[in-house]
Amino acid sequence: MQRNDNSLKKFYELDLDERLDYIQNETKIKKKDLQLLKDLPKNFSFNKINNMVENAIGIIPIPLGIATNFVINGKKYLIPVSIEEPSVIAAASNAAKIAKMRGGFIAEADESIMIGQIQLVARKRNHKDLFASKKERDRVKKIITDNKEQLLNIANLSSRTVVAKDIQVREILDESINNMGYMIIIELIVDTKDAMGANVINTMCESIAPKIEKLSNGEVVLKILSNYSVNRLARCKATFPKEMIGGSEGVNRILLAYAFAYSDTFRAVTHNKGIMNGIDALAIATGQDFRALEASIHAYAARDGKYRSLTKWYKSKDGDLIGEIEIPMAIGIVGGIISVHPIVKVVLKILDIKNVKELALIFVAIGLAQNFAAIRALANEGIQEGHMKLHARNIALTAGAEENQVCLIAERLIKEKNVSVSKAKEIIELLNSNRI
Ligand code: MEV
Repeated sequence: MQRNDNSLKKFYELDLDERLDYIQNETKIKKKDLQLLKDLPKNFSFNKINNMVENAIGIIPIPLGIATNFVINGKKYLIPVSIEEPSVIAAASNAAKIAKMRGGFIAEADESIMIGQIQLVARKRNHKDLFASKKERDRVKKIITDNKEQLLNIANLSSRTVVAKDIQVREILDESINNMGYMIIIELIVDTKDAMGANVINTMCESIAPKIEKLSNGEVVLKILSNYSVNRLARCKATFPKEMIGGSEGVNRILLAYAFAYSDTFRAVTHNKGIMNGIDALAIATGQDFRALEASIHAYAARDGKYRSLTKWYKSKDGDLIGEIEIPMAIGIVGGIISVHPIVKVVLKILDIKNVKELALIFVAIGLAQNFAAIRALANEGIQEGHMKLHARNIALTAGAEENQVCLIAERLIKEKNVSVSKAKEIIELLNSNRI
Protein backbone atom coordinates (compact mmCIF):
# COMPACT_ATOMS: atom_id res chain seq x y z
CA MET A 1 0.00 0.00 0.00
CA GLN A 2 1.28 3.39 -0.97
CA ARG A 3 1.93 5.65 2.04
CA ASN A 4 0.97 9.04 0.63
CA ASP A 5 -1.13 9.92 3.68
CA ASN A 6 0.97 11.40 6.50
CA SER A 7 -1.49 10.20 9.07
CA LEU A 8 -0.24 6.70 8.32
CA LYS A 9 3.32 7.65 9.10
CA LYS A 10 4.84 7.75 12.53
CA PHE A 11 6.09 11.20 13.57
CA TYR A 12 9.73 10.13 13.29
CA GLU A 13 9.14 9.07 9.68
CA LEU A 14 8.04 12.56 8.61
CA ASP A 15 10.42 15.08 7.07
CA LEU A 16 10.67 18.56 8.61
CA ASP A 17 7.86 20.12 6.54
CA GLU A 18 5.59 17.20 7.25
CA ARG A 19 6.36 17.43 10.98
CA LEU A 20 5.51 21.14 10.99
CA ASP A 21 2.29 20.49 9.05
CA TYR A 22 1.38 17.82 11.53
CA ILE A 23 1.93 20.18 14.47
CA GLN A 24 -0.08 22.88 12.72
CA ASN A 25 -2.98 20.51 12.20
CA GLU A 26 -2.91 19.40 15.79
CA THR A 27 -2.46 22.82 17.39
CA LYS A 28 -3.93 25.26 14.87
CA ILE A 29 -1.12 27.73 15.51
CA LYS A 30 -0.13 29.99 12.63
CA LYS A 31 1.94 28.44 9.87
CA LYS A 32 4.26 31.45 9.84
CA ASP A 33 5.14 30.88 13.53
CA LEU A 34 6.12 27.34 12.76
CA GLN A 35 8.14 28.45 9.75
CA LEU A 36 10.54 30.15 12.19
CA LEU A 37 11.71 26.71 13.22
CA LYS A 38 13.05 26.18 9.72
CA ASP A 39 15.54 29.03 10.08
CA LEU A 40 18.35 26.76 11.14
CA PRO A 41 21.88 28.14 11.62
CA LYS A 42 24.25 27.26 8.80
CA ASN A 43 26.05 24.61 10.84
CA PHE A 44 22.89 22.73 11.72
CA SER A 45 21.15 20.91 8.93
CA PHE A 46 17.88 19.24 9.79
CA ASN A 47 19.63 15.92 9.26
CA LYS A 48 22.24 16.77 11.81
CA ILE A 49 19.81 17.68 14.59
CA ASN A 50 17.55 14.80 13.67
CA ASN A 51 20.49 12.50 14.25
CA MET A 52 21.12 14.10 17.64
CA VAL A 53 17.60 13.68 19.05
CA GLU A 54 14.42 11.92 18.05
CA ASN A 55 11.48 13.73 16.44
CA ALA A 56 13.54 16.92 15.96
CA ILE A 57 11.76 20.03 14.70
CA GLY A 58 14.36 22.76 15.22
CA ILE A 59 16.93 24.23 17.48
CA ILE A 60 16.60 26.69 20.36
CA PRO A 61 19.50 29.13 20.55
CA ILE A 62 20.82 30.32 23.92
CA PRO A 63 23.33 33.18 23.94
CA LEU A 64 26.99 32.26 24.22
CA GLY A 65 29.28 34.77 25.94
CA ILE A 66 32.78 34.92 27.35
CA ALA A 67 33.57 35.17 31.05
CA THR A 68 36.82 37.09 31.24
CA ASN A 69 39.63 37.69 33.76
CA PHE A 70 39.92 34.10 34.93
CA VAL A 71 43.32 33.00 36.14
CA ILE A 72 43.34 29.42 37.37
CA ASN A 73 46.52 27.87 38.73
CA GLY A 74 48.42 30.72 37.09
CA LYS A 75 46.94 30.18 33.61
CA LYS A 76 44.63 32.72 31.95
CA TYR A 77 41.35 31.49 30.51
CA LEU A 78 38.60 32.88 28.36
CA ILE A 79 35.53 30.91 29.39
CA PRO A 80 32.66 30.51 26.93
CA VAL A 81 29.36 30.16 28.76
CA SER A 82 25.85 29.73 27.48
CA ILE A 83 23.02 31.23 29.50
CA GLU A 84 19.84 33.23 29.02
CA GLU A 85 20.08 35.18 32.31
CA PRO A 86 21.58 38.69 32.16
CA SER A 87 24.30 39.73 34.63
CA VAL A 88 25.71 36.24 35.14
CA ILE A 89 28.62 36.65 32.75
CA ALA A 90 29.43 40.19 33.97
CA ALA A 91 29.25 39.02 37.59
CA ALA A 92 31.59 36.06 37.01
CA SER A 93 34.06 38.19 35.07
CA ASN A 94 34.07 40.81 37.78
CA ALA A 95 34.54 38.25 40.56
CA ALA A 96 37.43 36.73 38.60
CA LYS A 97 39.01 40.17 38.24
CA ILE A 98 38.86 40.64 42.02
CA ALA A 99 40.23 37.13 42.68
CA LYS A 100 43.07 37.88 40.25
CA MET A 101 44.28 40.61 42.63
CA ARG A 102 45.28 37.83 45.03
CA GLY A 103 46.58 35.45 42.37
CA GLY A 104 43.36 34.00 40.97
CA PHE A 105 41.86 30.59 41.59
CA ILE A 106 43.80 27.62 42.91
CA ALA A 107 42.09 24.43 41.82
CA GLU A 108 42.56 20.68 41.59
CA ALA A 109 40.56 17.72 40.34
CA ASP A 110 40.50 14.01 41.11
CA GLU A 111 40.88 11.24 38.55
CA SER A 112 37.78 10.40 36.49
CA ILE A 113 36.52 7.59 38.69
CA MET A 114 32.86 6.68 38.27
CA ILE A 115 30.66 3.86 39.53
CA GLY A 116 28.41 1.47 37.64
CA GLN A 117 25.77 -0.35 39.68
CA ILE A 118 24.33 -3.82 39.21
CA GLN A 119 21.37 -4.73 41.35
CA LEU A 120 21.25 -8.42 42.20
CA VAL A 121 18.27 -10.00 43.90
CA ALA A 122 17.66 -13.59 44.95
CA ARG A 123 15.67 -15.81 42.63
CA LYS A 124 12.50 -16.67 44.51
CA ARG A 125 11.74 -18.58 46.12
CA ASN A 126 9.15 -20.68 47.85
CA HIS A 127 7.79 -17.32 48.97
CA LYS A 128 11.08 -16.72 50.68
CA ASP A 129 13.70 -14.12 49.89
CA LEU A 130 16.97 -16.02 50.01
CA PHE A 131 18.87 -12.77 50.56
CA ALA A 132 17.09 -12.40 53.88
CA SER A 133 19.63 -15.00 54.98
CA LYS A 134 23.04 -13.59 55.88
CA LYS A 135 24.61 -16.89 54.96
CA GLU A 136 23.24 -16.69 51.44
CA ARG A 137 24.29 -13.07 51.04
CA ASP A 138 27.80 -13.89 52.24
CA ARG A 139 28.00 -16.80 49.82
CA VAL A 140 27.05 -14.59 46.87
CA LYS A 141 29.34 -11.75 47.90
CA LYS A 142 32.26 -14.17 48.14
CA ILE A 143 31.56 -15.66 44.71
CA ILE A 144 31.54 -12.20 43.14
CA THR A 145 34.72 -11.17 44.92
CA ASP A 146 36.46 -14.45 44.02
CA ASN A 147 35.61 -13.88 40.36
CA LYS A 148 36.47 -10.21 40.28
CA GLU A 149 39.28 -10.53 37.71
CA GLN A 150 37.14 -12.49 35.31
CA LEU A 151 34.30 -9.95 35.59
CA LEU A 152 36.70 -7.05 35.07
CA ASN A 153 38.09 -8.76 31.98
CA ILE A 154 34.60 -9.06 30.52
CA ALA A 155 33.80 -5.42 31.33
CA ASN A 156 37.04 -4.23 29.80
CA LEU A 157 36.19 -5.80 26.44
CA SER A 158 33.77 -2.86 26.03
CA SER A 159 36.40 -0.16 25.62
CA ARG A 160 39.98 0.40 24.63
CA THR A 161 40.37 3.64 26.61
CA VAL A 162 38.02 3.53 29.58
CA VAL A 163 39.14 1.03 32.25
CA ALA A 164 37.09 -0.94 34.77
CA LYS A 165 39.52 -1.10 37.69
CA ASP A 166 37.75 -2.74 40.56
CA ILE A 167 34.57 -4.33 41.80
CA GLN A 168 32.99 -3.67 45.17
CA VAL A 169 30.10 -5.54 46.66
CA ARG A 170 27.67 -4.30 49.27
CA GLU A 171 24.22 -5.14 50.45
CA ILE A 172 21.00 -3.27 51.01
CA LEU A 173 18.65 -4.56 53.65
CA ASP A 174 15.54 -2.53 54.01
CA GLU A 175 12.37 -4.39 54.76
CA SER A 176 10.30 -1.23 54.66
CA ILE A 177 10.34 -1.07 50.84
CA ASN A 178 7.36 -3.18 49.70
CA ASN A 179 8.98 -6.12 51.38
CA MET A 180 11.54 -6.15 48.58
CA GLY A 181 14.46 -4.53 50.28
CA TYR A 182 17.01 -7.37 50.21
CA MET A 183 19.59 -6.97 47.51
CA ILE A 184 23.26 -7.14 46.72
CA ILE A 185 24.76 -4.24 44.82
CA ILE A 186 27.80 -4.94 42.71
CA GLU A 187 29.67 -1.75 41.90
CA LEU A 188 32.04 -1.47 39.01
CA ILE A 189 34.72 1.15 39.63
CA VAL A 190 35.66 2.68 36.30
CA ASP A 191 38.27 5.20 35.22
CA THR A 192 36.55 7.04 32.39
CA LYS A 193 39.62 9.19 31.57
CA ASP A 194 38.59 12.10 29.31
CA ALA A 195 35.03 10.82 28.84
CA MET A 196 32.03 11.49 31.05
CA GLY A 197 31.60 7.76 30.80
CA ALA A 198 27.86 7.12 31.03
CA ASN A 199 27.58 5.08 27.84
CA VAL A 200 30.59 2.91 28.34
CA ILE A 201 29.78 2.24 32.00
CA ASN A 202 26.26 1.20 31.10
CA THR A 203 27.65 -1.11 28.42
CA MET A 204 30.14 -2.58 30.89
CA CYS A 205 27.43 -3.19 33.50
CA GLU A 206 25.23 -4.90 30.93
CA SER A 207 28.13 -6.99 29.69
CA ILE A 208 28.89 -8.54 33.10
CA ALA A 209 25.30 -9.01 34.23
CA PRO A 210 24.80 -12.49 32.67
CA LYS A 211 28.01 -13.75 34.28
CA ILE A 212 26.93 -12.37 37.65
CA GLU A 213 23.60 -14.16 37.34
CA LYS A 214 25.35 -17.39 36.44
CA LEU A 215 27.85 -17.18 39.27
CA SER A 216 25.33 -16.21 41.93
CA ASN A 217 22.23 -17.98 40.72
CA GLY A 218 20.54 -14.65 41.43
CA GLU A 219 18.68 -12.26 39.18
CA VAL A 220 20.07 -8.95 37.94
CA VAL A 221 17.50 -6.14 37.76
CA LEU A 222 19.16 -2.73 37.13
CA LYS A 223 22.47 -2.20 35.35
CA ILE A 224 23.38 1.48 35.17
CA LEU A 225 26.00 4.03 36.13
CA SER A 226 25.56 6.08 39.28
CA ASN A 227 25.50 9.80 38.62
CA TYR A 228 26.57 10.40 42.20
CA SER A 229 30.20 10.85 41.21
CA VAL A 230 31.79 11.38 44.63
CA ASN A 231 35.07 9.82 43.57
CA ARG A 232 35.45 12.48 40.94
CA LEU A 233 35.55 15.70 42.92
CA ALA A 234 37.06 19.02 41.95
CA ARG A 235 37.86 21.80 44.36
CA CYS A 236 39.01 25.36 44.24
CA LYS A 237 39.95 28.23 46.48
CA ALA A 238 40.32 31.97 45.95
CA THR A 239 41.04 35.05 48.05
CA PHE A 240 39.12 38.27 47.56
CA PRO A 241 40.73 41.44 48.95
CA LYS A 242 38.64 43.13 51.61
CA GLU A 243 39.04 46.54 49.92
CA MET A 244 36.91 45.23 47.08
CA ILE A 245 34.15 44.07 49.38
CA GLY A 246 33.63 47.16 51.51
CA GLY A 247 36.34 46.44 54.10
CA SER A 248 35.92 44.23 57.14
CA GLU A 249 32.26 45.14 57.49
CA GLY A 250 31.62 43.93 53.96
CA VAL A 251 33.56 40.72 54.63
CA ASN A 252 31.49 40.12 57.77
CA ARG A 253 28.25 40.59 55.89
CA ILE A 254 29.33 37.95 53.37
CA LEU A 255 30.20 35.60 56.23
CA LEU A 256 26.69 36.16 57.56
CA ALA A 257 25.28 35.31 54.14
CA TYR A 258 27.33 32.11 54.17
CA ALA A 259 26.19 31.20 57.70
CA PHE A 260 22.59 31.57 56.50
CA ALA A 261 23.18 29.29 53.47
CA TYR A 262 25.05 26.73 55.57
CA SER A 263 22.25 26.38 58.13
CA ASP A 264 19.03 26.91 56.21
CA THR A 265 17.92 24.71 53.33
CA PHE A 266 15.60 27.34 51.87
CA ARG A 267 18.51 29.75 51.55
CA ALA A 268 21.03 27.03 50.60
CA VAL A 269 19.02 26.08 47.52
CA THR A 270 19.09 29.66 46.22
CA HIS A 271 22.74 30.12 47.19
CA ASN A 272 23.62 26.95 45.27
CA LYS A 273 21.43 28.02 42.36
CA GLY A 274 23.77 31.00 42.01
CA ILE A 275 26.72 28.60 41.82
CA MET A 276 24.90 26.55 39.20
CA ASN A 277 24.42 29.72 37.13
CA GLY A 278 28.10 29.44 36.33
CA ILE A 279 28.36 25.67 36.23
CA ASP A 280 25.33 25.02 34.04
CA ALA A 281 26.29 27.82 31.68
CA LEU A 282 29.69 26.23 31.14
CA ALA A 283 28.13 22.78 30.99
CA ILE A 284 25.81 23.84 28.19
CA ALA A 285 28.61 25.56 26.28
CA THR A 286 30.84 22.48 26.53
CA GLY A 287 28.10 19.97 25.70
CA GLN A 288 27.94 18.27 29.09
CA ASP A 289 25.06 16.30 30.55
CA PHE A 290 24.04 19.13 32.87
CA ARG A 291 21.22 17.10 34.42
CA ALA A 292 23.78 14.59 35.62
CA LEU A 293 25.89 17.39 37.06
CA GLU A 294 22.90 18.98 38.78
CA ALA A 295 21.74 15.69 40.33
CA SER A 296 25.19 14.82 41.59
CA ILE A 297 26.12 18.26 42.87
CA HIS A 298 22.89 18.74 44.79
CA ALA A 299 23.16 15.28 46.36
CA TYR A 300 26.68 16.24 47.42
CA ALA A 301 25.31 19.40 49.02
CA ALA A 302 23.25 17.12 51.26
CA ARG A 303 26.01 14.62 52.04
CA ASP A 304 25.82 15.10 55.81
CA GLY A 305 22.06 14.58 55.80
CA LYS A 306 21.12 18.24 55.43
CA TYR A 307 21.19 20.28 52.23
CA ARG A 308 23.82 23.00 52.71
CA SER A 309 25.90 25.60 50.90
CA LEU A 310 28.33 24.08 48.39
CA THR A 311 30.84 26.79 49.14
CA LYS A 312 32.65 27.67 52.34
CA TRP A 313 33.65 31.24 53.24
CA TYR A 314 36.03 32.51 55.92
CA LYS A 315 38.45 35.32 56.71
CA SER A 316 42.20 35.22 56.11
CA LYS A 317 44.55 36.48 58.80
CA ASP A 318 44.76 39.76 56.90
CA GLY A 319 41.00 40.11 56.93
CA ASP A 320 40.52 39.20 53.25
CA LEU A 321 37.72 36.88 52.25
CA ILE A 322 38.57 33.29 51.29
CA GLY A 323 36.13 31.10 49.40
CA GLU A 324 36.28 27.38 48.76
CA ILE A 325 34.16 25.00 46.76
CA GLU A 326 34.23 21.23 46.31
CA ILE A 327 31.80 19.44 44.02
CA PRO A 328 31.48 16.22 41.98
CA MET A 329 32.47 16.80 38.37
CA ALA A 330 31.29 14.13 35.97
CA ILE A 331 32.22 15.78 32.70
CA GLY A 332 33.86 14.76 29.44
CA ILE A 333 35.75 16.20 26.52
CA VAL A 334 35.38 13.22 24.20
CA GLY A 335 32.37 11.30 22.96
CA GLY A 336 28.68 12.09 22.80
CA ILE A 337 27.58 15.48 21.57
CA ILE A 338 31.12 16.83 22.00
CA SER A 339 32.29 15.05 18.86
CA VAL A 340 29.41 16.24 16.68
CA HIS A 341 28.37 19.69 17.86
CA PRO A 342 30.27 22.33 15.84
CA ILE A 343 29.86 25.09 18.45
CA VAL A 344 30.96 22.85 21.32
CA LYS A 345 34.07 22.02 19.31
CA VAL A 346 34.88 25.74 18.98
CA VAL A 347 34.17 26.31 22.67
CA LEU A 348 36.68 23.61 23.62
CA LYS A 349 39.26 25.22 21.34
CA ILE A 350 38.74 28.60 23.04
CA LEU A 351 39.17 26.96 26.44
CA ASP A 352 42.49 25.51 25.30
CA ILE A 353 42.53 22.62 27.77
CA LYS A 354 44.75 19.56 27.76
CA ASN A 355 42.41 17.11 29.42
CA VAL A 356 39.17 16.70 31.30
CA LYS A 357 40.76 17.48 34.65
CA GLU A 358 41.70 20.92 33.39
CA LEU A 359 38.09 21.50 32.37
CA ALA A 360 36.97 20.50 35.87
CA LEU A 361 39.20 23.24 37.30
CA ILE A 362 37.42 25.81 35.16
CA PHE A 363 34.03 24.54 36.31
CA VAL A 364 34.82 24.93 40.00
CA ALA A 365 36.42 28.34 39.48
CA ILE A 366 33.40 29.74 37.67
CA GLY A 367 31.06 28.23 40.29
CA LEU A 368 32.99 29.90 43.10
CA ALA A 369 33.23 33.21 41.20
CA GLN A 370 29.50 33.22 40.58
CA ASN A 371 28.75 32.56 44.24
CA PHE A 372 31.10 35.33 45.36
CA ALA A 373 29.46 37.80 42.99
CA ALA A 374 25.95 36.89 44.15
CA ILE A 375 26.55 36.96 47.90
CA ARG A 376 28.66 40.10 47.70
CA ALA A 377 25.80 41.91 45.99
CA LEU A 378 23.12 40.39 48.23
CA ALA A 379 25.00 41.12 51.43
CA ASN A 380 25.40 44.74 50.44
CA GLU A 381 23.21 46.74 48.15
CA GLY A 382 21.02 43.87 46.93
CA ILE A 383 21.13 42.17 43.61
CA GLN A 384 19.60 44.96 41.51
CA GLU A 385 21.56 47.97 42.71
CA GLY A 386 24.55 45.67 42.99
CA HIS A 387 24.60 45.28 39.29
CA MET A 388 25.18 49.02 38.82
CA LYS A 389 27.87 49.10 41.50
CA LEU A 390 29.63 46.10 40.06
CA HIS A 391 29.60 47.84 36.75
CA ALA A 392 30.97 51.08 38.26
CA ARG A 393 33.81 49.22 40.03
CA ASN A 394 34.58 47.46 36.80
CA ILE A 395 34.74 50.79 35.01
CA ALA A 396 37.05 52.15 37.74
CA LEU A 397 39.39 49.19 37.26
CA THR A 398 39.25 49.53 33.50
CA ALA A 399 40.21 53.20 33.84
CA GLY A 400 43.31 52.17 35.80
CA ALA A 401 42.26 52.77 39.43
CA GLU A 402 44.43 51.40 42.23
CA GLU A 403 42.85 48.71 44.43
CA ASN A 404 42.30 51.15 47.31
CA GLN A 405 40.67 53.74 45.01
CA VAL A 406 38.11 51.49 43.40
CA CYS A 407 35.25 51.78 45.93
CA LEU A 408 35.57 55.53 46.19
CA ILE A 409 35.62 56.03 42.43
CA ALA A 410 32.69 53.66 41.90
CA GLU A 411 30.60 55.54 44.46
CA ARG A 412 31.43 58.84 42.83
CA LEU A 413 30.56 57.57 39.35
CA ILE A 414 27.16 56.48 40.58
CA LYS A 415 26.56 59.68 42.56
CA GLU A 416 27.38 61.76 39.51
CA LYS A 417 25.22 59.49 37.37
CA ASN A 418 28.03 59.12 34.85
CA VAL A 419 29.43 55.59 34.92
CA SER A 420 31.99 55.91 32.16
CA VAL A 421 35.70 55.21 31.72
CA SER A 422 36.40 58.85 30.84
CA LYS A 423 34.71 60.08 34.03
CA ALA A 424 36.59 57.47 36.06
CA LYS A 425 39.88 58.67 34.54
CA GLU A 426 39.03 62.24 35.54
CA ILE A 427 38.42 61.15 39.15
CA ILE A 428 41.64 59.14 39.24
CA GLU A 429 43.55 62.22 38.12
CA LEU A 430 41.92 64.34 40.81
CA LEU A 431 42.69 61.68 43.45
CA ASN A 432 46.31 61.28 42.32
CA SER A 433 46.91 65.03 42.44
CA ASN A 434 45.23 65.22 45.87
CA ARG A 435 42.58 67.51 44.50
CA ILE A 436 39.81 65.47 46.13
C1 MEV B 1 20.02 34.48 40.71
O1 MEV B 1 20.08 33.84 39.44
C2 MEV B 1 21.01 33.85 41.67
C3 MEV B 1 20.95 34.38 43.10
O2 MEV B 1 19.62 34.26 43.59
C4 MEV B 1 21.91 33.56 43.90
C5 MEV B 1 21.86 33.83 45.38
O3 MEV B 1 20.79 34.21 45.91
O4 MEV B 1 22.91 33.62 46.03
C6 MEV B 1 21.28 35.86 43.13
